[in-house]
Amino acid sequence: MATDPPLGFYQSRVLLILIAAELVERRTVALAQALPLEEASARDLQLAFRQNKLTSRQLTKFYLYRIRRLNPLLRGVIEVNPDALRQADRADRERKAKPYGSLSALHGIPVLLKNNIAPKDKMNTTAGSFALFGSVVPRDAGVVARLRSAGAVLLGKASLSEWAHYRSSGDLSGWCARTGQGKNPYNLSADPCGSSSGSAICMAANMGAVSLGTETDGSILCPSSSNSVVGIKPTVGLTSRSGVVPLAPRQDIVGPMCRTVADAVNVLDVIVGFDPFDAEATREASKYIPSGGYKQFLKADGLKGKRLGIVRNPYFDYRSRSLVAKAFESHFNTLRKQGAVLLDHLELANINEIYSNSGEDLAMSAEFKLALNTYLRDLVVSPVRSLADVIAFNNKHKHAEKIDEYGQDLFLAAQATNGIDKAVKSAWQNMDRLSRDGFEKLMRQNKLDALVTPESIVSQVLAIGGFPGISVPAGYDENGVPFGICFGGLRGSEPTLIEIAYGFEQATKIRRPPLFRR
Ligand SMILES: *[C@@H]1O[C@H](CO)[C@@H](O)[C@H](O)[C@H]1NC(C)=O
Ligand SMILES: *[C@@H]1O[C@H](CO)[C@@H](O)[C@H](O)[C@H]1NC(C)=O
Repeated sequence: MATDPPLGFYQSRVLLILIAAELVERRTVALAQALPLEEASARDLQLAFRQNKLTSRQLTKFYLYRIRRLNPLLRGVIEVNPDALRQADRADRERKAKPYGSLSALHGIPVLLKNNIAPKDKMNTTAGSFALFGSVVPRDAGVVARLRSAGAVLLGKASLSEWAHYRSSGDLSGWCARTGQGKNPYNLSADPCGSSSGSAICMAANMGAVSLGTETDGSILCPSSSNSVVGIKPTVGLTSRSGVVPLAPRQDIVGPMCRTVADAVNVLDVIVGFDPFDAEATREASKYIPSGGYKQFLKADGLKGKRLGIVRNPYFDYRSRSLVAKAFESHFNTLRKQGAVLLDHLELANINEIYSNSGEDLAMSAEFKLALNTYLRDLVVSPVRSLADVIAFNNKHKHAEKIDEYGQDLFLAAQATNGIDKAVKSAWQNMDRLSRDGFEKLMRQNKLDALVTPESIVSQVLAIGGFPGISVPAGYDENGVPFGICFGGLRGSEPTLIEIAYGFEQATKIRRPPLFRR
């Protein structure tokens, strides 16, 4: 058995801060000790509300206190909602007035939103950049409207890799101008991964009950994997993208990032559905929403009879990371023991082309310019109205935006594109073909329920076809950095993926809270 290293400087400092804060905020902390709020699930919290052991105000104060204490170190939050406590009070009043059982699973539960998702309130939606500071959105984002009507408390905005990691191909992972570098709470010198870095950091460190992230290619799956949280990247169109600072509408999607599969599923149930402001995609995908919602698929024996595919090359090609490789071999055994059928050594026909030459980059660049310009034009007030304005802003604020260090090459390339031309259309066709002849064929021919892959390496395969994936904590590497296991499937297969993810989580329970080591 390895012995724990002595407390590092930062860890002991965090402990001291927490102890000091305990003296200051005796009530909240006394409550947190009586009721373990750390790691509490939405279900635990609802039970505590109902038994009058906890109010939404107390819970919101608990998270605000965690954010105040931990955020200077972790930088997972950009701003907190000045109205959060008012919303909590309203939830507390509603709970008294409404009949038992009539309230949503997120009623009174504090939610963090990635900073590219816009609520129409006092908070700023800026994708982490100063360029959008002070902009006013026309209305709540589609998913925010759903959270509000479910009675959730909008706690604040999570940090991200600026512009969802689309400003530059340089290393912006977890960095944005407004908060600086987000830190991985499990190893402060490790990459938190992005672009939904803040959502993952905050969930890992209990700075909120549940959160939303967004993904275009890996932005939910990667930070979920690296911070030991559960991330659901839904089928494109299952959740609305209206009111979300866009990247590429063909691939963009909003999804839950939480500490458990059950929490993520509770969030998914609230945010899915048709939105007139993202009509085409959400109408098309709403056929996938099961009646009775997704909760019914949280079955402890969810792995029974599931056919799971494993593509060793390149996904499980771990030469040097023996600890990770070993963990996955043990997970395969667990999956079998839980009743799944593993189809090993499968091949994904066009995998090299998907990773090297799919056309994704070209299409994304053109889509980004159009979609961002539309988003900026629709704002009620904004200091910038086009991608060209944002580029000029960055050049003017080189220091704050670290332009010399990180650059903005992707912005410049996007600005040079000319709409959806022949090349973009052929890139779209190519991605459709790659999905059809690759992933879809692999899934259908082998009658797979899911493809099992480590961490988030599969993200491109899922991204180019609009396919869903769920990342679940799967272990910790030699540096104490978490890694996840990803279950990916065909469009609309969320029910099956949830059964598999929940079955795996319940059989392994790998997530543990971070120790803020260095
Ligand atoms: C949003 O931005 C404005 C500046 O435009 C600032 O005054 C305000 O404090 C910000 N809101 C929050 C919640 O930080
Ligand atoms: C954190 O990661 C670094 C490498 O990035 C490693 O040197 C260090 O030992 C790790 N810390 C812990 C506590 O494992």
